[in-house]
Amino acid sequence: MEMRSWLQSPSSLTHGNIIRREIFSKKDPNDPHKPGAILNYIDSFSRCYLESRIASIPTSFDDRQLIFYIVDGEAIFEGDDLKQEVREGDGIIVPPGTTHVLNNEANTTPLEFLILEETLADAAGPPREDVLIRNYREQHLNQGHWTHLVHPIFGEADGLAKLHSVLMVTIDAMQTPDTHGHADDMDEVWYMLEGNGIHVVSQNVYRQHPGDAVSVAPSNPGHTLINDTEEPLKTFYFARYTR
Ligand SMILES: [Fe+2]
Repeated sequence: MEMRSWLQSPSSLTHGNIIRREIFSKKDPNDPHKPGAILNYIDSFSRCYLESRIASIPTSFDDRQLIFYIVDGEAIFEGDDLKQEVREGDGIIVPPGTTHVLNNEANTTPLEFLILEETLADAAGPPREDVLIRNYREQHLNQGHWTHLVHPIFGEADGLAKLHSVLMVTIDAMQTPDTHGHADDMDEVWYMLEGNGIHVVSQNVYRQHPGDAVSVAPSNPGHTLINDTEEPLKTFYFARYTR
């Protein structure tokens, strides 16, 4: 378990012009002390931005699938034959071999977004063949763990390679979910988008603010994200469960 902010990560570039801060990456036996290298299955989780009036360069990866989540701003996404405006709350699955571009040229504000990377090696099934864009607001709200208000974004049926679940989870003011635990044979990460709360993971107590990501595998006897404020908190969540 670990809490890490994107501010703790060095800058790097991807897609030519996308400025990336990688928060968590897959465990690397050749570099066991790499900061944030704690994931078991998912290859990379980053907070990124694209400056105003800038486009990324056309990029494709044969060995991996990318999942974007738009945190703030608007842009035009182009991938193969698809050209569509994307905005806050949109998730995008970019299958391997798909040449894609994000274009922020029409806007005066940076585009803030998250990127998940999942390599195809050891994937359970074949990857997607076409781009999928979906806003979390298109999915029905569910409730679980007492107080998690869950908008699904993507699931296994959408052709995820390693991930089982990508969600937007809200916890309302002054509420706590139940406490439950996870072993170290899965990945589950909570990234704070809006508001803040106290994330208890095993014996660790984290004050989790926007831009902070908490990994909860392992958590013994459990973890719970308590909203001790008078405003809702909003998180981006991804997981690969034990099966
Ligand atoms: Fe959990």
